[in-house]
Amino acid sequence: MTECQGDGAGGITPMELYHKLSEQGDNVRALKSDKAPKADVDAAVQLLLQLKLDYKLLTGNDYKQGSPPTEASVTQDNGPQEDGEDQVDPWNVTTSNAKGVDYDKLIVRFGSSKVDQELVDRIEKVSGQRAHRFLRRGIFFSHRDMHQVLDAYEKQKSFYLYTGRGPSSEALHMGHLIPFIFTKWLQDAFDIPLVIQLTDDEKYLWKDLSLEDCHRYAVENAKDIIACGFDVDKTFIFSDLDYMGASPDFYRNVVKIQKHVTFNQVKGIFGFTDSDCIGKISFPAIQAAPSFSNSFPQIFKGRKDVQCLIPCAIDQDPYFRMTRDVAPRIGYPKPALLHSTFFPALQGAQTKMSASDANSSIFLTDTPKQIKNKVNKHAFSGGRDTVEDHRKFGGNPDVDVSFMYLTFFLEDDEQLEKIRQDYTSGALLTGELKKILIETLQPMITAHQERRKQVTEETVRKFMTPRPLNFQY
Ligand code: TYM
Repeated sequence: MTECQGDGAGGITPMELYHKLSEQGDNVRALKSDKAPKADVDAAVQLLLQLKLDYKLLTGNDYKQGSPPTEASVTQDNGPQEDGEDQVDPWNVTTSNAKGVDYDKLIVRFGSSKVDQELVDRIEKVSGQRAHRFLRRGIFFSHRDMHQVLDAYEKQKSFYLYTGRGPSSEALHMGHLIPFIFTKWLQDAFDIPLVIQLTDDEKYLWKDLSLEDCHRYAVENAKDIIACGFDVDKTFIFSDLDYMGASPDFYRNVVKIQKHVTFNQVKGIFGFTDSDCIGKISFPAIQAAPSFSNSFPQIFKGRKDVQCLIPCAIDQDPYFRMTRDVAPRIGYPKPALLHSTFFPALQGAQTKMSASDANSSIFLTDTPKQIKNKVNKHAFSGGRDTVEDHRKFGGNPDVDVSFMYLTFFLEDDEQLEKIRQDYTSGALLTGELKKILIETLQPMITAHQERRKQVTEETVRKFMTPRPLNFQY
């Protein structure tokens, strides 16, 4: 629980509190016009004042009749819910459910929209491409304003992509690949520019790392990102430590955002406390700034109205709820979003794959042998205890990590469905399923390592130099 979600408001949402306040306001007015006893009026006014105080604490804003709370304050509740389930924020992803986070509930809690079949069909129609398997399989499951982006694109109004990485270590894990693989597909499908933020400043503020190490990791991580196949004529990758100092326009946007977000708001959204360093408290403005096209004058020629679309896993959404809330107040369009589910830890979908736990993760630097050992040793199985029981009762693909990984990386829909059926019926054993996964991952990661080896310092320099990109609006 953050301070802003504290007892003052009794666990109520900002919108519920807003309605309660409106009712209490009506109540006070009615008592006064009915000339009710002074003690009754005083008690009602007292309650109204208390509710106003709660509202200020909860949202960071004063209550104003006729202005309901904004997107960021409506959806600021990131902590574990009353039923004790699912925590999802940029630092923690945990659930007690072996099938993973309840993503439908998350859509309701965060106030986003489901990526339904109609949207998948529209993306196919507008881009003229078969939907990526991440869309076909509900891995990118939630969005904000995607229909608006497509409406504009159909009217020849283009958009740009923005995604990022917090370089906390030399090697990325497979979970990190998810947004980059999908972003590459979007870049090709829509033929649009892309900016990639490497938040080396963020990692310096949050981790026990030197500035030099964070910057070095940024450059190393850029090599892995480039190895995903991005088009150098349409992609700008930047380290905050470099670009913040080099671009007055970027910094101007950071400052504008900082001016329009209160400490109470970031406490509510991110759970910062009084003992967090001030760098953390102001950092969200830096992750917000690339959502606005005039942060990149070399690409967008100073235009502030080019629509941004952000593909990321849903853990990053708090940053962009804040961004979308602030955007109209500083005269910019709200960025649209496409959110992915989490690539689970080897031990099970109760947590996401995380770089801070080496055994939970398959890294892009792992050898074929390490991949084999990790899958065989650690991948949580939905199979039965004995072969006899497995043949008789079948396995459970819904909690089986090897099967989950195949849903992310096996391209062939029919093959995947056959594996699901065979595993469920017991025809396919856990060892056989793991073997299919190992044989899918090993060549994929080896190919990534080969592509990464081809990325020279000169290539990295090109991607990371502020310059015009191929973009017509
Ligand atoms: P970071 O480095 O934690 O993660 C980079 C990207 O990978 C996603 N991600 C995952 N996706 C699926 N399964 C997982 N297990 C998994 N773990 C991480 C994250 O959602 C993210 O998209 N503060 C950010 C860096 C950043 C950023 C952005 C990210 C700056 N600007 C704009 C997305 C969009 C960070 O530390 O990401």
